[in-house]
Amino acid sequence: MHEIIKKLRKDSLTFEQLAHIIENEKYDEEILNYANEIREKYVGNEVYVRAIIEFSNYCRMDCLYCGLRAQNKNIKRYRMTIDEIIDRAKLIAERGIKTVVLQSGEDTYYTKEVMSNLIKEIKKFDVAITLSIGEREFDEYKAWKEVGADRYLMRHETADEVLYNKLHPSDTFENRKRHLFKLKELGYEVGAGCMVGLPGQGPIELAKDLIFLRELDSDMIGIGPFIPNPDTPLKDEKGGDLKTTLKIIALARILIPTANIPATTAMGSLHPFGRQLALKYGANVIMPNLTPNPYRPNYTLYPNKICLFEADTSCIECTKAMIKSLNREVGKSYGFRVKAS
Ligand code: SAM
Ligand code: SF4
Ligand code: FES
Repeated sequence: MHEIIKKLRKDSLTFEQLAHIIENEKYDEEILNYANEIREKYVGNEVYVRAIIEFSNYCRMDCLYCGLRAQNKNIKRYRMTIDEIIDRAKLIAERGIKTVVLQSGEDTYYTKEVMSNLIKEIKKFDVAITLSIGEREFDEYKAWKEVGADRYLMRHETADEVLYNKLHPSDTFENRKRHLFKLKELGYEVGAGCMVGLPGQGPIELAKDLIFLRELDSDMIGIGPFIPNPDTPLKDEKGGDLKTTLKIIALARILIPTANIPATTAMGSLHPFGRQLALKYGANVIMPNLTPNPYRPNYTLYPNKICLFEADTSCIECTKAMIKSLNREVGKSYGFRVKAS
């Protein structure tokens, strides 16, 4: 193994060396295989299945890359009712899945109280709850944690401050960091992560992403390719490629060995075996889509998203079969992060 790759684990790599590794293809094979070794050693053979309910596609934000952005008039907006969300969560629990992920645009229609009641109801099904609903008030995060929310996913998207501020007209990277560190302080398991292939992002910016994830000690790390959406200002950009995205996932595993890392839907949307490859080179989580119809096809972050027209609950069996086909085991526990002692 190249000396420089060994240094990754010892935390003795300089920023420039990390960017050099990202840029240089000669390290690719070693990095991918090393990530698989580290995954096996630190998080084992289990793959955790977390079912996602995309309960609203209304969003007050205008992230330049995203199909749900407020200014996009070409999507049919929906909001699931509280009863619909609870019914879905119940069905997920009945199928033996131990985590329900509640995801939406930034939609304050679901107030602090409404979300609190929802969390309380869903907790009765003996599942862990992950929230992924964007930036909200700190007292809201606190209230939801107190009634039982376990985890919060909010990608940092890019750790390059200038790029972040360009992509998010009404937000700043400073502010995003503040939210992520606050969530940690409140006791959530926190998930950050980035897109790969954003315009203006190269090895230096990707190195910043990895350093940031380590600085936050991110409990979960969501990394996927940027996929240009024709209904957004970034429609003519190139987007991320499989090879670079896999390499960043692998590096995240090496640098933060005990994190839970999903094989993201965007990986599966970019390449037919994108999620399998992610699981092979560092990932240990998969998130089947359990958004009910007629809503599911309208949660269109980017084109060619997988699973939009599958039969209602078939993604559960599909992901379990995928795990087994890779000689891995379906995780039976809630799948909290286990930090190395
Ligand atoms: N609104 C919440 C938020 O922003 O954290 C949760 C939902 S948001 C749609 C979930 C993730 O989708 C974002 O963190 C972003 O990384 C990803 N996403 C949005 N548009 C995308 C695109 N065009 N390509 C790839 N991923 C995209
Ligand atoms: Fe809204 Fe999240 Fe999309 Fe940004 S990424 S526009 S906050 S749904
Ligand atoms: Fe949705 Fe395979 S995970 S069809």
